[in-house]
Amino acid sequence: MKTVITYGVFDLFHEGHENLLKRARALGDRLIVGVTSNEFTRQRGKLLLADSLDIRMANVRNCPYVDEVILEDHYGQKVEDIQKYRADVFVIGDDWKGKFDYLKKWCEVVYLPRTPGISSSSLRTAPYPSISFGIVSSGRIVRRFLQEIDHVHGGVHVREIYNPHLESARRLAEGYPDLQAAESYPELLEKSDCVYIASPHETHYAYAKEALLAGKHVLCEKPLAMRRSEAEELYALAEERSLILMEAVKTAYCPGFSRLLSIVESGFIGEVKDVECAFTKLTDPQLRERRDRDHGGSFTELASYTLLPVLKILGTKDLDIRFESLLDENGIDLYTKTYISNGRMLSCGKTGLGVKSEGELLIAGTEGYIRVSSPWWKTSEFAIHREDPQDITSFHVDYAGEGLRYEIAELVDRLQGWHTSDYHLTREESITMAGIFEQYLAYREGLRGNE
Ligand code: CTP
Repeated sequence: MKTVITYGVFDLFHEGHENLLKRARALGDRLIVGVTSNEFTRQRGKLLLADSLDIRMANVRNCPYVDEVILEDHYGQKVEDIQKYRADVFVIGDDWKGKFDYLKKWCEVVYLPRTPGISSSSLRTAPYPSISFGIVSSGRIVRRFLQEIDHVHGGVHVREIYNPHLESARRLAEGYPDLQAAESYPELLEKSDCVYIASPHETHYAYAKEALLAGKHVLCEKPLAMRRSEAEELYALAEERSLILMEAVKTAYCPGFSRLLSIVESGFIGEVKDVECAFTKLTDPQLRERRDRDHGGSFTELASYTLLPVLKILGTKDLDIRFESLLDENGIDLYTKTYISNGRMLSCGKTGLGVKSEGELLIAGTEGYIRVSSPWWKTSEFAIHREDPQDITSFHVDYAGEGLRYEIAELVDRLQGWHTSDYHLTREESITMAGIFEQYLAYREGLRGNE
């Protein structure tokens, strides 16, 4: 009995997959297929998937040449499986030629020619083969965005950049051969399928509105808006026109944060009673966020992050919200504590500019607590602690690069029509955040009046 083993993602199962499995089976008497888990697929750099794991495994199982389907979820598993299943032949498409020669120590390794002209990637991007992003602003985050978008694949390109200071956009575009500086915002909109808005906070709403009215999808840096009514209006506009509107609170889309929330939901630490987190930065006092009396300050700069776990866990209903700020001589808050409760759970989010504290997230429950190590907003390492100090369960989830790739991937996923849930950052959460910003700005005005 000769056992053949192969692995793959098998997204949108297609004839290339079937051909490969047929030829693999013909090399022996039994074919085992390892289907790669979503998380491991992402860890290996492929961020876009159309089918769920269940569907991918079922499609492989239903293929007449397959005898057994297993899950592949970690590095080194192929070595383990070959020994465990006593595989005689390891097969893979020749796009991997040479990459699995190390397995020759345990079995025969065969690279089969790929079926030309078909791949999961091409099927995944078929609805929207090329997606042109236009970027508004040429500030600090844009260079990061340009690096990150290259990791998403799926036909996304940044073609246009707009900044009212044309020179600044031109200077940035010079470093990127495919990038052009648009002369005006309407010109950028005209040439783009979707826009990434990373301009100063107070301009987000107007840019987003104009883009939606022009029929463009929008990924907008946080805060989307500083008034609840503005955020509501933007989401209504997007809905009317069947456009995607996403607020780019990057933590919301990163895999570690999603895993953390799932663990909280599963009741692993009992009922949650408290959420505490901090995001503080020591920044140059000359920067906009330290000088702009109207829109600067630690809250407007950082609270989108600290509000995220609070709203995710406490929800958006019946919130009692209170602030405490320390203002500098210009009336800018250098340090703010935001207390939110809903009658069942308490929370405190701390934001600081020019004040430094530990950037961790603590979620306290009736059976233990979760501690997410600093920087918690790039969620990667966290641990569950219980009464017994020795009883600790640790987690590690990869956080790749600058983390923006996850939100971009989600947008592409939705654009291609594969994504159906808005679990990562719901419209209601985003609107609630805008409302809390509005409340905070009113509170800060009051505080200034008292001084
Ligand atoms: N395969 C093939 N011919 C194709 C596509 C895939 O022989 N036209 C093979 C791959 O080489 C691999 C197996 O099918 O051995 C599973 O492929 P998968 O991991 O799903 O890759 P792709 O279909 O190439 O997906 P993607 O476009 O996302 O890379």
